[in-house]
Amino acid sequence: MNTKNTAKIPALPYNLFLIGFMGTGKSTVAAELNRLLLRPVLEMDAEIERQQGMSIPEIFSRYGEAWFRDLETRLLVEVQKGQKRIISCGGGVAMRKKNVCEMKKSGVVILLTALPETILARVQDDNNRPLLKNRKNTADIAALMASRNAAYTDAADLTIATDGKTAAQIAQEILKNLPIETTF
Ligand code: S3P
Repeated sequence: MNTKNTAKIPALPYNLFLIGFMGTGKSTVAAELNRLLLRPVLEMDAEIERQQGMSIPEIFSRYGEAWFRDLETRLLVEVQKGQKRIISCGGGVAMRKKNVCEMKKSGVVILLTALPETILARVQDDNNRPLLKNRKNTADIAALMASRNAAYTDAADLTIATDGKTAAQIAQEILKNLPIETTF
């Protein structure tokens, strides 16, 4: 666990943004935080699929990744107007500076990390992630992760390693270390 700022962010009706590589457990941890905090969860991927009436692989294959990234940014601009939500971001969201700016306007950014071996075990049977198509091996996962790590780290207010932990343990760790002057 690593908290970037020593100064606590003043208590605000902030959002909690979960970022991190595919398979780091953002959705599962968001569901656990929802159970503990009774705050609504917004699943960005699911919301984009709902708005577009298409699955993520379909969006990628019909319109391309760049179009999907614009949809993500558009959704984040909308989301940051809201309050007190838990937002489970798609794994690529922190790659755009504009997205990070949008998240910082209304919330705290929590980075979940995992080792490539852990990621592989979690995504092995999933075919809904176009960027991992034909890349489900630790070398490819590690390479993509390495190309993203600086952006993830820069964006994060709090970083939690998830390997070997349950969603309940991760959620508790987040709440204990949240850099915010609030008690729940
Ligand atoms: C992506 C991660 C996916 C989804 C899309 C692209 C990425 O979300 O947004 O397939 O670029 O890392 P999850 O992190 O929820 O799998």
